[in-house]
Amino acid sequence: MKKTIALLPGDGIGREVIEVTVDVLKTIEEHYHHQFQFQYGLIGGDAIDQTGNPLPKETIETCRQADAVLLGAVGGPKWESNPVFLRPERGLLAIRKELDLFANLRPIKAFDSLLDSSPLKPEYVRGVDFVIVRELTGGLYFGKPSERTTQDGEEGAVDTLFYKRSEIKRILVSAFELAMTRKKQVTSVDKANVLESSRLWREVAEEVAKEYPEVTLKHMLVDNAAMQLISSPNQFDVIVTENLFGDILSDEASMITGSLGMLPSASLSSSGLHLYEPVHGSAPDIEGKNVANPIAAILSAAMMLRHSFGLEEEAGAIENAVKHVLGSGKRTADLAKGGPYVSTKLMTEEIKAALADDHAILN
Ligand code: NAD
Ligand code: IPM
Ligand code: MN
Repeated sequence: MKKTIALLPGDGIGREVIEVTVDVLKTIEEHYHHQFQFQYGLIGGDAIDQTGNPLPKETIETCRQADAVLLGAVGGPKWESNPVFLRPERGLLAIRKELDLFANLRPIKAFDSLLDSSPLKPEYVRGVDFVIVRELTGGLYFGKPSERTTQDGEEGAVDTLFYKRSEIKRILVSAFELAMTRKKQVTSVDKANVLESSRLWREVAEEVAKEYPEVTLKHMLVDNAAMQLISSPNQFDVIVTENLFGDILSDEASMITGSLGMLPSASLSSSGLHLYEPVHGSAPDIEGKNVANPIAAILSAAMMLRHSFGLEEEAGAIENAVKHVLGSGKRTADLAKGGPYVSTKLMTEEIKAALADDHAILN
């Protein structure tokens, strides 16, 4: 199979984890006889430094000509005090909007071998397997106005939480469709006791649920959901929620798996051009040290193979290789709890070796 992959490494450890993920994809290419063409593009702080724009037009062009997009992470202290239109995060928000990547799937799956890496007790973590479906192109992130303003003669600031019915409907449909392939349970998370946008969200969720009689729909207030993620994470199958709630809950949920460095994601659009990225950021505190956990990025590439290219076997092989390496006791620093650990590059080499072995066994 011939595919073109747009690679947007971005900043900080984004560059480090994309570099090694490309190595893993090359191993897949070799063993399964595919041809992946990699086209690099600039985004974030890197793009600001080189072009003065966090999302240059050429990057969007590169993405549009590709079959899928793989992104690292953006941001860092260097650009923190830039004016808002010159911030790396602007580039990320712009690409999500530009490619209409409205459905962000963030799977949270506990590996048995990592039960001890989580700060939660093993009996809470064992068997956890759910997906957060985060709305990605609306809500507070994009509502207008978003600006400094004056009220009662005093400076303040306003952000706007706005959702159209159609935006709520399409993300709910994505969640129900996903639930149909899983345990058929949707938990819709909102703040309907306070927010009007959440009351509309609930109304639309009930309407969509009527089209899926086999799926159970439960509503949960976001503060309660934050608590339940820790007290009984095993109850969840598919969680669907608005942009900001999904952002916060997914970082929280990452700790069930042991580290933010474990969580992959897929950002899906209706056009068929999807983007894949780890949930974590550019991690300036560990940048350049070869200690970042590459698994979130590598599992994002597996999601790409499955969702964008239909390569189920290859995606499964990557996931099995990761499982095997973790099972053999190899840990990056974030998972090691102060014990011995391997570098980003070494972890990747282990995964590549397991992939090659797995392939040898399968054939
Ligand atoms: P972060 O996700 O970069 O890091 C949070 C903590 O988790 C840090 O201690 C970091 O070392 C650790 N961590 C993250 N990924 C890791 C990995 N793969 N392996 C090991 N440890 C890992 O969040 P932050 O520090 O709040 O933000 C840093 C910058 O990243 C900011 O500029 C922020 O805007 C940006 N950011 C970007 C994205 C993205 O591009 N998708 C996501 C989140 C944050
Ligand atoms: C994420 C990040 C982004 C978000 C930031 C960097 C804009 O935290 O992808 O989760 O809030 O969506
Ligand atoms: Mn986030």
